[in-house]
Amino acid sequence: METKRISVDRVNPEAELIKEGAEWLRAGELVAFPTETVYGLGANALDASACAKIFAAKGRPQDNPLIVHVSGLSMANSCVNKWTSSAELCVKNFWPGPLTLILPKTSLIPDIVTAGLDNVAVRMPSHPVALRLIEEAGIPIAAPSANLSGKPSPTRGGHVWRDMKGKIPLILDAGACEVGLESTVLDVSGEVPTILRPGGITREQLEAVLGNVYTDSCSENQAPRAPGMKYRHYAPQGELILVSGHRERVVQRMVQEIIRGHSRFKKVGVLCTLESASYLHDRHPDLLFVLGSKDQPSEVARNIFEGLRLCDERKMDLILVEGIEEGGLGSAVMNRLEKAAGKRTQHI
Ligand code: TXA
Ligand code: MG
Repeated sequence: METKRISVDRVNPEAELIKEGAEWLRAGELVAFPTETVYGLGANALDASACAKIFAAKGRPQDNPLIVHVSGLSMANSCVNKWTSSAELCVKNFWPGPLTLILPKTSLIPDIVTAGLDNVAVRMPSHPVALRLIEEAGIPIAAPSANLSGKPSPTRGGHVWRDMKGKIPLILDAGACEVGLESTVLDVSGEVPTILRPGGITREQLEAVLGNVYTDSCSENQAPRAPGMKYRHYAPQGELILVSGHRERVVQRMVQEIIRGHSRFKKVGVLCTLESASYLHDRHPDLLFVLGSKDQPSEVARNIFEGLRLCDERKMDLILVEGIEEGGLGSAVMNRLEKAAGKRTQHI
């Protein structure tokens, strides 16, 4: 299949380009589009065979359900059977934005979207291109992140191009995504709201509105409530070591790992904070990528997937990543890095 990648204005998306995207979606085809979090791979959420194409293009396991994107409340109502009071508070305070709500589904939503679960994930994105596209299509759009399954999420049109070229007809490219990390997935179907995946809306923001919020710990011998969280995700090709803790010790350890990597003829990539960059630069890693200031987790969030993908493009064998402090967006960043590192996480 020939893939068309077209530039679209992020603030005032060109009407004819939005129309083209909407036509593909209504015809049961896949369209990749920007959201404020990451790029999505969209299909008509009401059409099971269109949604099946998402799983095929990504190589995604069938038991991992999809988020349904809506452009407004009446569309959300067509997907959700029963709203809870915490869900309503969330909508009022955080939509449109990077918050996905888990709620009982209506019969309009095919089983393939929810992987057979009774609950559906819904989100109203704030990116003008996403909103206009869904509105124009006039149907809810199922969309996972537009990466090959297991790869870091795409935060630029070029990332989607690399993963989806030849597999989908259209990529709407509006440049870099503002948040850079996926939405927070919050189960609001029950008594106490539960975070299934940390993301763009922080725990602190949620608690200010909802009071106490649980976190699903996703323990090893329990079926996770967000099925996607059990897979090793966000992983670059090279071996990734995450080092966090006291900053001077972290830098020392990273220097040791650079030397060790080089002695074994490995190409070593380093992703670090602005504050540590000059020390690590002096040790001549094969690639040094600055994630942002340690005091600006939103900057690190915006850059993390770009950094991981760059390491793959430049074929780094070993990737050393400096962790940042937990709390706020820092927790979402560390969640993604821990998943990417698997067991290779060092806290010192
Ligand atoms: O920011 C985002 O959320 C992006 C953009 C495109 O909106 N989308 C995204 O989708 O990250 P995806 O498929 O990569 O991740 C969806 C997560 C997975 O962990 C999945 O298991 C969980 O949401 N999820 C989806 N439907 C669910 C459901 N019905 N119940 C529980 N978890 C669900
Ligand atoms: Mg994903």
